[in-house]
Amino acid sequence: MSSTYLFIKHANELLTLKGHSQQPAVKAAMNQLHVINDGAILMKDEQIVAIGETDELLSQFHQEINLAEIIDASGKVVMPGLVDPHTHLVYAGSREEEFNMRLNGATYMEIMNNGGGIHATTTKTRAATIDELKEESIKRLDRFLIHGVTTIEAKSGYGLDWETEYKQLFVAKELNHLHAIDIVSTFMGAHAIPVEYKERPDVFIDLIIDEMLPLVVEEELAVFNDVFCERGVFTPEQSKRLLLAGKNLGLIPKIHADEIEPYGGAELAAAVGAISADHLLKASDEGIKKMAEAGVIAVLLPGTAFFLMEAAANGRKMIDEGVAVALSTDCNPGSSPTASLPFMMNLACMHMGLTPAEAIYAATINAAHAIGKGHEIGSLEEGKKADVLILDVPNYMQTQYLYGMNHTHSVIKAGRIVID
Ligand code: NIG
Ligand code: FE
Repeated sequence: MSSTYLFIKHANELLTLKGHSQQPAVKAAMNQLHVINDGAILMKDEQIVAIGETDELLSQFHQEINLAEIIDASGKVVMPGLVDPHTHLVYAGSREEEFNMRLNGATYMEIMNNGGGIHATTTKTRAATIDELKEESIKRLDRFLIHGVTTIEAKSGYGLDWETEYKQLFVAKELNHLHAIDIVSTFMGAHAIPVEYKERPDVFIDLIIDEMLPLVVEEELAVFNDVFCERGVFTPEQSKRLLLAGKNLGLIPKIHADEIEPYGGAELAAAVGAISADHLLKASDEGIKKMAEAGVIAVLLPGTAFFLMEAAANGRKMIDEGVAVALSTDCNPGSSPTASLPFMMNLACMHMGLTPAEAIYAATINAAHAIGKGHEIGSLEEGKKADVLILDVPNYMQTQYLYGMNHTHSVIKAGRIVID
């Protein structure tokens, strides 16, 4: 079969995010965007073949460009497809009535401890068929795609029993093949203490360790192992036991850490060598230092703070302390039912003290590293996957300045135009 060429020319600003494929960007590097004016990219099949100024590529790749489909990006920004490193993609139903309860004064944890919250979605997800879960999740994936997201992580965790955890992971795996968006899976059996184990959380952790983790690995259902480490959910000791057991089997630790109160989650992430610690609204100074030393990526979820009406995590401090910061929607039915990663970037600028350049790093190459894919996606460089986002704004500052709007003009996934 002959090769397919795609050529983007005359980008007003082409943001490459280059130079960080091995390690995420930290400190001042997160604020230095490499911008090519009048930029161009040549793609062959799924990959980027060349990137540079339009004139340069036109003269060097004359033959290939003659065969290529051409996109004129005059007046537009071209950048890597966005990467969302923390979503709860596969679940059934919605929880708008809880949103209303919260607006009337109830707290997120109160609702959960009264059988709502994660438990409510667990009941619905247990009852849903594979086809129903697929249908709901495809709708969410489509929403991600129109916001320029080309790869996401997806967690299980609304089963809390093997049958349903398996169902969620199975659906994510199928959708990875069916949908344009690439999906990397995380097992999160320890998302809540199931009602059946309310008084016996350690027995539930044993069950996950002894029965579920080996099956996740055997059936190649996930790359990461995550836990909700929070008072009233799983303790740091239980979380540690679980994460180390998974690590022994080859599952890379991730952790929902210090969301509601400082609870040693950031410190634990550093101690177990987690790839990321996520949330961190209440992370301690010591925890942040330890994350920087251990190279744990902070996945910050400004939409969750926004939707729960809490103060956002201190992204500015984390970057200044040398932690690699990434951004995510946390897309889930309770604390952040959104697929708009661009809006998360806006919130990160307005509520976490990030600059527009830092927000762009956090939602591309650093996000890719948070799911172990920095070598493959997250920047526009020769040999990397051709996941490209074209935005209908003339410069990258406007992506944040014109906030709360979707600037997606087109999306290219693996060298194929998927949004036009
Ligand atoms: O990341 N914090 C725990 N889990 C999710 C919320 C899940 C839900 O409310 O359904 C989160 O915020
Ligand atoms: Fe989450």
